[in-house]
Amino acid sequence: MKPRIIVTRRWPATVEKVLSEQFETTFNTSDVPLTQDQLRTAFAEYDAILPTVSDSLPAAAFPEGTACTRLLGNFGVGFSHIDTEAARRLGITVTNTPGVLTDCTADIAMTLLLGVARRAGEGERELRSGNWTGWRPTHMIGSRVSGKTIGIIGMGRIGKATARRAHFGFGMDVVFYNRSKVDDDETRIMAARQLPTIEDVLAEADFVSLHCPGGAANRHLMDGRRLAAMKRGAFLINTARGDVVDQQALIAALQSGTIAGAGLDVFDGEPAVPEALRRMENVMLLPHLGSATEETRVAMGMKVVENAVAFFEGRDVPDRVA
Ligand code: DGY
Repeated sequence: MKPRIIVTRRWPATVEKVLSEQFETTFNTSDVPLTQDQLRTAFAEYDAILPTVSDSLPAAAFPEGTACTRLLGNFGVGFSHIDTEAARRLGITVTNTPGVLTDCTADIAMTLLLGVARRAGEGERELRSGNWTGWRPTHMIGSRVSGKTIGIIGMGRIGKATARRAHFGFGMDVVFYNRSKVDDDETRIMAARQLPTIEDVLAEADFVSLHCPGGAANRHLMDGRRLAAMKRGAFLINTARGDVVDQQALIAALQSGTIAGAGLDVFDGEPAVPEALRRMENVMLLPHLGSATEETRVAMGMKVVENAVAFFEGRDVPDRVA
């Protein structure tokens, strides 16, 4: 008998097809997040649940006794929405999809960096609303990007890919903070400098780009104090997780001019986005598009399938995180 699997959201059709060939698969055709009750039922009925970032799986979402579910195959690299300790206690394996969304997420970090520095969103809004009165020397002056310094917080795959784009594509200097020492050819060739503290990075960077995981360890890593420690005229870019930034402190810093602007692809409590942010012109806001390309979403799905097949065949699971 094939393992029974439930997929919590719609996936690219090609991957749904592969999944249904491999497993007895239930798709959530409504494509709205399952409720906590539906998730609890899923733990009792399915061998695997394939969730994604829009599913909240804190400890309370896990069953108390035993679960039928033996695998949580997360569609996405970030898994801070899953309490991996609770999974471990129930003997549930958790996998993710590293590697395949690196470039596309770094592209979105650069989209935001360029967009907010050069006021692209604001310019487009002006033009679409019919308010553009024509070229003039003082119109919508932004910040130059080349020759500036990008500060990467979290020099993992996506951090490095963003640094590469910034350095080789846009002539930026790179400084970074990473918990462990990073000393490899890639960072050396970019002359990227690892600094001892986040504060050191904030003191030097014209653009601060966040690439660390979300969850308790990094919650509000960018708080009011650190936002105030950024250079005057600096910009914050977040393609990591919304909870890494204290959103209220960010709004205050943007309103007071403590920082010049922000480019945000992720939000604390998304899809809700504070109205104050939506009203500001000095921010560029995207609806969590980091990995949103056809190629990447298919690759993510195929990675989940690869992990699930390995798991149910009793082989080593390539991307086990718990
Ligand atoms: C990821 O893979 O973590 C993306 O943010 C989508 O969840």
